[in-house]
Amino acid sequence: MANIVVVGAQWGDEGKGKVVDVLTPFVDLIVRYQGGNNAGHTVVIGKEKFVLHSIPSGILRPGKRGVIACGVVVDPASLLEEMAQLERRGITLQGRLVISKNAHLILPYHRLLDEADEARLGTRRIGTTARGVGPAYTDKAARIGIRAGDLLDEALFREKLQANLQLKNAILQSVYNVPPVRLEEILPAYLRFGEALAPYLRDTTILLNEALDAGASILFEGAQGTMLDVDHGTYPYITASNTTAGGASTGTGVPPTKIHGVLGVAKAYTTRVGEGPFPTEVGGELGDLLRGRGNEYGATTGRPRRCGWLDVVVLRHAMRVNGCGTLALTKLDVLDALSTVKIAVGYRYGQTVLRDFPLEDRVLAGSEPVYEEWPGWQSSTAGLRHLEELPPKARDYVERLAALTEREVSLISTGAVREETIISEGSLLTRWFPGAQSLPVSPR
Ligand code: IMP
Repeated sequence: MANIVVVGAQWGDEGKGKVVDVLTPFVDLIVRYQGGNNAGHTVVIGKEKFVLHSIPSGILRPGKRGVIACGVVVDPASLLEEMAQLERRGITLQGRLVISKNAHLILPYHRLLDEADEARLGTRRIGTTARGVGPAYTDKAARIGIRAGDLLDEALFREKLQANLQLKNAILQSVYNVPPVRLEEILPAYLRFGEALAPYLRDTTILLNEALDAGASILFEGAQGTMLDVDHGTYPYITASNTTAGGASTGTGVPPTKIHGVLGVAKAYTTRVGEGPFPTEVGGELGDLLRGRGNEYGATTGRPRRCGWLDVVVLRHAMRVNGCGTLALTKLDVLDALSTVKIAVGYRYGQTVLRDFPLEDRVLAGSEPVYEEWPGWQSSTAGLRHLEELPPKARDYVERLAALTEREVSLISTGAVREETIISEGSLLTRWFPGAQSLPVSPR
């Protein structure tokens, strides 16, 4: 039984939700290890579309257990709303969803600080999702965070909240000129949230390790992507957590020695939402075409995503820092109409061609991507389920990507629904999940 991390190889929105959904039948537990409700994982089942923000997308498969582990930051109001929406749509959560008592809470002052700080930054803003995720992680590192388990002890929760409000209100008022948050206005609601979440709160580190000891297998569902990692991404234009595969261990308490492999997920082109460097970004008609065909609008905020060509400099970095054994390629069909497709293989900086993503902003800003141009296939790949059906030029594109990243592409997603998936026979993916060979999977 393989325990595998599914990680985004770009700036998020690679289609991890669909990939996780496809692989869920072959594991017992699906675990979110970082991020919060800044994520938006879209899964389409038949004619139904689900967008999940904090709950692992594996929960949509009957009988599977979903875990929100200690590395995640939880906004109780938003999580309970997401839970209620799933229940209304017939997805039962009792006994299947578990939330770590050690997950830190996103509280109203985090959201206010997120927004106020973006306004302060002005043109240097990050372009956050304004969900309070960054400020909640800030408090975790500052050792003043309040955790989900604290909701279960009224006196303790009140004491911690009161102490934090003193500090946060002083900052909100004097630095940002924002009205304070009153304890009595929020406490009752949070105590109710605590009661509602109580049946789901557990020590998930023990739960996960005991499950592994009993022979269960885990899929770790990353949120955002490598280039948004707080250490390995385009700092400071990042999210505040370790999105990379190492985060799966620190964010769950499952030791690295029990994780068997990493599947990198990359889109056939690149997108980014929010501010920050994006070397292969294209504007104009081509950018609009990718955005339109790929429906590139944020699943959480609805913001239009910036679009550009596939960037192998980024992908090689992602392969390295995550230790990706193999790649899943998504949204290949979005490129179907193009007469030429480009892949960035390096960045030209003065007289040199850089093969690695530069650390210095100055170097990155002064660089131009070096592209390989490939003929487009100009025929539909939408919905294809077998490798042999791919137009030869589309196959060349995939094979070139594999050669450049030195990774086999073991899964190609050709559409939003589960069945629109190609799994490469005999690939590492099918060695991890022997049953995956029998895909396409049947509808729920
Ligand atoms: P935050 O995570 O809300 O603090 O936002 C920090 C940066 O990460 C911004 O550029 C966001 O647009 C980006 N970001 C956060 N979550 C996602 C996601 O799920 N997909 C893509 N970008 C994201």
